[in-house]
Amino acid sequence: MSNVLYIKASPRTGRSHSVAVADAFVESYCQAHPEDKIKTIDIFERPLPAFDLPAVTAKYKIMHGTEHSQEDQRIWSQVISIIEEFKSADKYVMAVPMWNFSIPYRLKQYVDILVQPGYTFSVNEGGNYEGLVKDKPVFIAYARGGEYPAGTGKEAFDLQKKYLELMLGFMGFRDIRSVTVEPTLAGGADVAKQKRTAAIEEARKMAKEF
Ligand SMILES: Cc1cc2nc3c(=O)[nH]c(=O)nc-3n(C[C@H](O)[C@H](O)[C@H](O)COP(=O)(O)O)c2cc1C
Repeated sequence: MSNVLYIKASPRTGRSHSVAVADAFVESYCQAHPEDKIKTIDIFERPLPAFDLPAVTAKYKIMHGTEHSQEDQRIWSQVISIIEEFKSADKYVMAVPMWNFSIPYRLKQYVDILVQPGYTFSVNEGGNYEGLVKDKPVFIAYARGGEYPAGTGKEAFDLQKKYLELMLGFMGFRDIRSVTVEPTLAGGADVAKQKRTAAIEEARKMAKEF
């Protein structure tokens, strides 16, 4: 039995294209793997600790080998419980909209919480970074209002897929699979519907092999 963590990063619930594609993926996955467990985190609903001065102070104390005060421990225990929840999954599914060419700020906050030395990455003897979340697949459904095809001048604006996959790779992920719905706005409603239907079909197929 596998534990699947499904992270929804769009607040548009019923209207979200990325969530519609990821939901279809999860539905097909569950049909193919009825024994597996799905845990869903709605990143806009889920309370996340602010990564402000107290959290940064606790983080730097770990990096400098300084003991945590009671206040450090209080904030750091919240950070660790979120990391542990994340690391306890065997497989991951994500629904991710493009916001200002990158990822929504709540997902960035989640990344800032997750990416900690000694927990999700380390520095090996050769002085190189090494991800600690290993041998776990992730499926990501991306949605964008515009279109950013590879090999065109618009590709450089895509800091959504590039950034997220860089960070997942940094944490150790190697098996990263994705489907993109684009354009959800620039081509009008009919184009968006057509692209979303095609992405859902593709996601359903990919779920069976996940
Ligand atoms: C705050 C915000 C910023 C956005 N920035 C971009 C952008 O930079 N490029 C783009 O193509 N679309 C942008 N969009 C449009 C979304 O990417 C598009 O509506 C997409 O379908 C959102 O994903 P969702 O349908 O899963 O919520 C933005 C939307 C919002 C709400």
